Amino acid sequence: MPTTLITGGTVVSSTGRAEADVLIDGETIAAVLAPGSALLGHDLKSSVDTVLDAAGKYVIPGGIDAHTHMQMPFGGTEASDTFETGTRAAAWGGTTTIVDFAIQKYGERVMDALQSWHEKADGECAIDYGFHQIIGDVNDDSLKAMEGLIGEGVSSYKMFMAYPGVFYSDDAQIYKAMRVGADTGLMTMMHAENGPAIDAMVAELLAQGKTDPYYHGVARAWQMEEEATHRAIMLANLTGAPLYVVHVSAKQAVAQLAAARSNGQNVFGETCPQYLYLSLEDQLGAPGFEGAKWVCSTPLRSKQEHHQDHMWQALRTNELQMVSTDHCPFCMKGQKDMGVGDFSKIPNGIGGVEHRMNLLYQGVVDGRISLERWVEITSTTPARMFGMYGRKGAITPGADADVVIYDPAGHTSIGLEKTHHMNMDYSAWEGFEIDGHVDTVLSRGRVIVDGDQYLGSKTHGRFLRRDPSQYLI
Ligand code: URP
Ligand code: ZN
Ligand code: ZN
Ligand code: ZN
Repeated sequence: MPTTLITGGTVVSSTGRAEADVLIDGETIAAVLAPGSALLGHDLKSSVDTVLDAAGKYVIPGGIDAHTHMQMPFGGTEASDTFETGTRAAAWGGTTTIVDFAIQKYGERVMDALQSWHEKADGECAIDYGFHQIIGDVNDDSLKAMEGLIGEGVSSYKMFMAYPGVFYSDDAQIYKAMRVGADTGLMTMMHAENGPAIDAMVAELLAQGKTDPYYHGVARAWQMEEEATHRAIMLANLTGAPLYVVHVSAKQAVAQLAAARSNGQNVFGETCPQYLYLSLEDQLGAPGFEGAKWVCSTPLRSKQEHHQDHMWQALRTNELQMVSTDHCPFCMKGQKDMGVGDFSKIPNGIGGVEHRMNLLYQGVVDGRISLERWVEITSTTPARMFGMYGRKGAITPGADADVVIYDPAGHTSIGLEKTHHMNMDYSAWEGFEIDGHVDTVLSRGRVIVDGDQYLGSKTHGRFLRRDPSQYLI
């Protein structure tokens, strides 16, 4: 088995940092050692196969993006990144694991849906991947099938309070599914927005001739998110199901989560980079049809209401536990442009799997979060939240050698003509400048990104069987 020594760097974990060397044996981390250590009298540098010099750099566990939608059929089209292109872009940005969503559509059987997602991803991924299961049709058969998900290595499922006629579940269906969630130890993930009320407002706005992308944000008002978040929390409280609310963007929804947590309830929340940096006014409200680039749900919020500052604060205080991208890319040409003249026909989603580690590191530079919290919310907590810790999320002996060497003196200019490996014809992050750089990325001991060279392969990534959430035991 090839051995690698990462030497001279600062190893950062969710709880601290230390100068240390990292010894990798094959696919796993063998030891974390005092700098320059010898092992059984042997100078390590001269006895390993590869030495990676990390002097002046951070050595961190590879990023885990627990919310992506590669090649998702949605909005009359399909997300433009395949598992191949999307996981390669993730690797470029220092993310070494994704958890994507297998989708049970209305009328389909759960296990058939899961199987078809395995077929899409198998042999196509540059990095390791897992699945959450979307339950889009709650009935007796799917409720029964949910009981078998943990046996399939799928320890979480997602429901939608939004998108009536597509993925939507009503309160009775949510109640029934949460009962299974509570009994089996599955984590319930929720898209919390009041879909029926939103659709009524969309119809009103369109009837008034308000067809620009900006009105997507008007229709999906924060009240719709706060109300649904509260309802999901109450149903979880009643059934005893643990609850993880995805893509939280409204400060009022954070307050609902915080109140439930201080009440002792097992509820968790994720936000995404777009809700930390982008706004209703500056992006969704861009002139003409430009705003379509940033149509996603939940929507970008008003900067006048200071939601973005609130999201950063919630990440500091653990009112929100982690950051995923909700990577769901669509091109402007041929996809987003289906909604010219009718914002409700713009496919919902933003691509960003490549930029999450950098965008969050900028939060460290800007004094928003600590270096350790960066590692925690991008890697360690996602691993624990979704049953991967021990293998992923930390640089410890026995863990998979998923490691990023990050250069705090480096620089990354994000843009279509600069850093862009996602299969999109625009960048939602055009012009963002990051005071840091992903230098080297290892996935299970193999260097897959080295400076400006991609060394990975689409057959390297493996399906990750996940255990129940380590926050519940
Ligand atoms: O706009 C979004 N978020 N698209 C992806 C699907 C979802 O709701 O997560
Ligand atoms: Zn969603
Ligand atoms: Zn999503
Ligand atoms: Zn560099």
